[in-house]
Formats: sequence, C-alpha cells, structure tokens
Amino acid sequence: MTNAEKPVRIAVVGTGFIGRRHISFLKGDSIFDPVAGADPAPEAKAYLASQDMPHFSDYRKMLDEVKPEGVVVATPNAIHEEVTIACLERGIPAMVEKPIAHTIESARKIVDAAKRHKVPVLVGHHRRHNPLMRVAREFIESGGIGQMIAIAAYDLRRKPESYYKAAWRREPGGGPMLINGIHDVDCLRALCGEIESVMALTANRARGFPVEDTAAVTFRFENGALGNLTISDAVQAPWAWEVTSGEEPDYPYMHEDTYLICGSEGSLAVPTLNHWRNENGGGRADPFIRKRLFYVPADPWVEELRHFTRIIRHGEKPLLDADGGTRTLAATLAVAESAKSGRPVAVKDLYS
Ligand SMILES: NC(=O)c1ccc[n+]([C@@H]2O[C@H](COP(=O)([O-])OP(=O)(O)OC[C@H]3O[C@@H](n4cnc5c(N)ncnc54)[C@H](O)[C@@H]3O)[C@@H](O)[C@H]2O)c1
Repeated sequence: MTNAEKPVRIAVVGTGFIGRRHISFLKGDSIFDPVAGADPAPEAKAYLASQDMPHFSDYRKMLDEVKPEGVVVATPNAIHEEVTIACLERGIPAMVEKPIAHTIESARKIVDAAKRHKVPVLVGHHRRHNPLMRVAREFIESGGIGQMIAIAAYDLRRKPESYYKAAWRREPGGGPMLINGIHDVDCLRALCGEIESVMALTANRARGFPVEDTAAVTFRFENGALGNLTISDAVQAPWAWEVTSGEEPDYPYMHEDTYLICGSEGSLAVPTLNHWRNENGGGRADPFIRKRLFYVPADPWVEELRHFTRIIRHGEKPLLDADGGTRTLAATLAVAESAKSGRPVAVKDLYS
C-alpha cells in the first residue's frame, strides 16, 4: 500500500456529543484512521478506551506526539480559535465545527492564521455536503429558475424543556438563531449567494429566556433578491431541515420543504427538489408543472469527512473555508444586531 492509499490519520479534539458522532463515522469507513482523541473531561478517557483510541487530556500534547494528518475540532465554540490555530501552527489542516468561532474577531484570527501558515480550514456546516444541496445550487446557477427574486425559508421546531437545562443555551450566544439558524444562513448563502444586509425582529415571549426563541428575519442578497427566514424553537411544526432533509436519523422524516427559492422562470423547493413552473409562462389560470430533480442521497456527515481527507491528501479546495465560515457567522450575528437597533445591518460592517 502506498502512502497515498493508507487510511488518513485523523484526531478529534473534544469528544462530547458531536465529537463522538464524528468518531463513529471515522470508525465506520476504512479510508479513515481515527488516531487519537483529546478532551480533559473525566468521562473522555473511558469513552476513548471503548473506541480503542488513545486519550489525551491536553490537545497540544496529542498534536505533538501523535502528529495527525488532520484534526476535527469539536470543542465548545469559545475555544475553536485556540485549538484550530494550534493545528495550523503545526501545519495540520483542521475541520472546525460550526460556528467557526464565537465572535467575528476570533473567526478573523483563524482566517489570518490559515493564510499565514498556508494550511486549509474546513468549517463544519455539514448540510452543504448533502448531495441535494449541490444539485440545487447547480440547477439555480444554470438558470433553472431564471432571475432569482424572492426566497422564503423556515426553521420551525419545538425543542424539549430538557434542552434548556444547559444555561448557555438560554443566554445570548445560545438560542435558535446561533445554534440552528446559522445552518440556514449558510444554506441560503450556498444557494442564493452572499447576503448584503439583514433586518430582524426577535421575541422571547414563548420561553421567557434572555435569548430569543423566535425571529423573523429579512435578507437582501447581493444579487438583488429578497428573502425571509422565520425561525422558532417553541412551535410544533415539521418545517425544519433535520425533519425535511431526512439526513438525521434521530428525527422523523416529513416530505416537506424548508426553502422556497423563487425566480422569474420557476421556483425550486428544497429539500424535496421540486421544480415548479407555469405551463405557459404564468398567469392566473395557467396550470403548474412540477418536476422533481434527481440526486443520489448520501450522508452529509460522512461526505464532509471524505471531503476533508481530499483536502488533506489532494489539496482539494474546502467547500466552506475559514473566510466563508466567517461570512456565515457575520450574517447570523447581524440578526441580533438588527433586532437590537431596529435598523437594517450591512453584513460587511460586521465582517470587514
Ligand atoms: N454541525 C452541527 O450540526 C452541530 C451540532 C451540534 C454541535 N455542533 C458544534 O460542535 C461543537 C461541540 O458541541 P457539542 O454539542 O459536542 O458540545 P459538548 O459540550 O457535548 O462537547 C464539547 C466537548 O469539548 C470538550 N472540551 C472542552 N474544553 C476542551 C479542551 N480544552 N480540549 C479538548 N476538549 C475540550 C468538553 O469536555 C466536551 O466533551 C460546538 O462548536 C457546536 O456548535 C455542531
């Protein structure tokens, strides 16, 4: 076996909920070699032993001793920056979970370090790796809906009370917009292009926490299209990506849509990939034609890790690099900023 054919040696920093999910995928495919895990939590050692993986309390020690080819950073957001930069300083590509960081300032430090060390960063917005997203994007880019004009997006769900036992989820920095809505913002950026400005109203009436439980957000895209995202984690409704995409086995699957992307020549509903248009170009009595775009389903979490191995071994360009992850964060943070000021917020004012 040549070196290029050997499994890719990947370590995981942070072996909590999502770190363990990555480890289960790394162990499930022989193209990966999950070489070690680092986490100071008392339960981490026994967990990693159960996975036949060496355990380190100190991630820097692990990076220096194990010398992985790539690292998955799955720690709390506030330490994404220090862990990711420690990898980059050692020439190790990092796949950092979303959000890239907890502040724009912190995210920018990652962007700068990636440039300085010329080492790639992949930001873990896994939905981008769902093949249906690529098909939708290519269809839109090839003119499938004509000129993009209006977008309606939904992220509507009810989280159990137990979810809010963790205090940080009840405070600014938690809440549905930064925990879930950031994925929708990233999907909208992937499908509709850059977001120029954001105007938002938020409410905490349903749960009464310091952070919002509901938001109504309006986006102006750089291509001139306008869009809305309605998000709440306090409603019983099936219009959330985890339910409609079928990519999360913990959720029921409902054949519904979360993004309606509407243009002059037709509209694309995502994730069903139903393409709608009028038979005769529009008009009150003009019947609709529905055509479903074809794609081959694949698990976006596994696709994301496979893409990471191609970045490491073959220099593939990250689907979402540190700069892109920072733009997604900026457009998401603009929601709270606009809700506070009551004014539209230009994303570039937060980003640049
Ligand atoms: N892509 C997604 O859909 C998705 C879903 C959930 C969480 N996430 C992201 O994954 C990250 C982790 O979230 P989680 O839900 O797994 O949190 P978690 O609290 O379950 O796990 C975080 C782990 O990091 C460990 N940790 C803390 N400090 C550390 C350090 N200095 N070195 C090594 N490990 C350290 C903790 O002990 C803990 O085990 C967050 O950034 C979160 O936003 C992404």
